[in-house]
Amino acid sequence: MIPTVRPRRLRTSRAMRRLTAETRLHAADLVLPLFVREGIAEPQAISSMPGVHQHTLDSLRRAVADAAEAGVGGVMLFGVPEVRDAVGSAADDPDGILNVATRAVAEEVGDALVVQTDLCLDEFTDHGHCGVLRVTSSDSDQIVVDNDATLERYRDMALAQAAAGSALLGLSGMMDGQVASVRDTLDANGFSDTAILAYSAKYASAFYGPFREAVDSQLVGDRRTYQQDPANRREGLREAELDLAEGADIVMVKPAMSYLDVLADVAAVSPVPVWAYQVSGEAAMIEAAAANGWIDRERAIEEAVVSIKRAGADTVLTYFATELARRI
Ligand code: PBG
Repeated sequence: MIPTVRPRRLRTSRAMRRLTAETRLHAADLVLPLFVREGIAEPQAISSMPGVHQHTLDSLRRAVADAAEAGVGGVMLFGVPEVRDAVGSAADDPDGILNVATRAVAEEVGDALVVQTDLCLDEFTDHGHCGVLRVTSSDSDQIVVDNDATLERYRDMALAQAAAGSALLGLSGMMDGQVASVRDTLDANGFSDTAILAYSAKYASAFYGPFREAVDSQLVGDRRTYQQDPANRREGLREAELDLAEGADIVMVKPAMSYLDVLADVAAVSPVPVWAYQVSGEAAMIEAAAANGWIDRERAIEEAVVSIKRAGADTVLTYFATELARRI
């Protein structure tokens, strides 16, 4: 039997493969996460994230300018404050590091890319949780993050970040009602043009490991009472639907590569853009394997990001954004 159907025909040359590719990477579809740390004179390397730094304000400005020059679509800023407390006071302080940094880069970068901010308390609290704690009993081992009290803090953070010039607030805390709550306060305070990126389906993941070093996290315990159980697929879609109903402008799935099924589910129904976050541990796995000579670093990065787009992401947050944008 000689085959008449030969899918290999479309793979015969580089030009033919390029012409028939179903998924393409574009620099504008990439967002670069960046860390800015208060009180340092020089950028600090993060050992579990080769090539990624805790930036000073100056080195942050340069990193944003580089990303813009490479054509990257946006940057997502994370702040590392010098002083932390139980309620994360530095988060909504206009002089807090994240708000200062946002003002600094938003002015400078103009319309070249979109400046976005992480809206969550974990970088700012001394206990490292994404919200304020409630003492429930004499059992002090039992840490409970108070959902509704945390929403009040998120509202204050949202106003501070919007005032600092963040165009897109990344709500990553996984509190119930956070999108509606933040939308309400933005609209009531003259920030109806500030957009919301909802980390809708955010899982309690081991792949956030290196991020903890990046933000000097003080986390006690884990986040399983607010982030989702990796076992749950249907719940990911449910979370996205709730955020859409609450007015999310963009919904996101995080991490990316272990949750491509959830991403595809959300992409199938979402009327708004769907993003995915290739998190610190996903990058670290590629870097570690490549450093050992076990995989081809550039090919692995491209394959991972293409896979995330193929599964349904319109845009990918990736620590490789600038280098990838330069290459493609
Ligand atoms: C919360 C937040 C986290 C990450 C992004 N936003 C940490 C967490 O939820 O535990 C992780 C990102 C990464 O691992 O690259 N502020």
